[in-house]
Amino acid sequence: MLRIGLLTSGGDCQALNATMRGIVKTLYRQAGEPVEVYGFEDGYQGLIYERYRMMDNRDFSGLLTRGGTVLGTSRTPFKLLDTPEADGVNKVEAMKGTYRKLKLDCLFMLGGNGSTKTANRLSEEGLNVIALPKTIDNDTWGTDMTFGFASSVEVATRCIDEIHTTASSHGRVFVIEIMGHKVGWIPLYAGVAGGADVILIPEIPYDIENVIRVIEERDKHGARFTIIVVAEGAISKDEAALSKKEYKKLVAARTTPSIAYDIAAEIDKRTGREIRIAVPGHTQRGGTPDAQDRIFATQCGVEAALACLKGKFGVMIAQVNGKMCRVPLADVAGKLKYVDPKSDLVKEAKAMGISFGDE
Ligand code: F6P
Repeated sequence: MLRIGLLTSGGDCQALNATMRGIVKTLYRQAGEPVEVYGFEDGYQGLIYERYRMMDNRDFSGLLTRGGTVLGTSRTPFKLLDTPEADGVNKVEAMKGTYRKLKLDCLFMLGGNGSTKTANRLSEEGLNVIALPKTIDNDTWGTDMTFGFASSVEVATRCIDEIHTTASSHGRVFVIEIMGHKVGWIPLYAGVAGGADVILIPEIPYDIENVIRVIEERDKHGARFTIIVVAEGAISKDEAALSKKEYKKLVAARTTPSIAYDIAAEIDKRTGREIRIAVPGHTQRGGTPDAQDRIFATQCGVEAALACLKGKFGVMIAQVNGKMCRVPLADVAGKLKYVDPKSDLVKEAKAMGISFGDE
């Protein structure tokens, strides 16, 4: 009997169910022995409090196209891992206890950066853990791609497309705020795919004067409208010069809902142009996974199952230069993958006239 645990942790995304389907279908076919599947509810909380449900073949049918996660998810911040829960429970000991009590052979953890740090800790504590790279943000170190990213780029691109038509009709400037946490992968990809005029990402600090120049030049050439895609974590050159502490203080003191509003107010003040804001927000994590995500999620699920059957634990499933592989959890935990400002895509976007606000 092979006993495995599944959990989904952190912000959800479109291809979590498709990934779990890949793991379980492969195990059923390849294990050569009966497989018992324990699905932990709401991420690490389920492991801490022994909240799980037994799952079988039928639970994984019809999941390829279903967004969200059938297990539910939650955030259990890594920095609070050694702080007892409100009821005094020691999280790490409780998770180890559940794992041992259920006699699990392997825990599959589908999660992003913070969740991977916790997975690494559990692996160091002696549990057999395999992590799978989930996040719309695509910021997981050690893998070229994460599942959820492609689908969220699709959603964000559609939003930019739709704004284009109305921006053009009314001759307005639009600021569209795109998710991505501290990195600019989704805004960069969706911005290029959606034909944005300006893309502001955290990795390339902007100067608002450069953004205004783009609007004015477009006006001069009769373009009528300008589409500015701004990453939720974008920073100005002045902000980039601050210490981490000073910047955090500045963000905490913000009176507007988010950065798009600050940028819009600044443009309004300086140009008097008619300006609107669009924030697609969590729609970027919603809906069905796109084809690329379904494929990658399936690959990740299959490779994770095969790693388990080979006894390869303490790893994250990854894709590097198009090849599926395993990377040690200890090598990836705690590191972020940023957009390289000198990458081909940034250079190409600049070459055809997209401004990143830096020059
Ligand atoms: O990590 C995924 C993500 O959607 C980020 O892009 C965003 O910053 C964050 O999660 C939003 O978190 P929450 O769902 O807790 O509002």
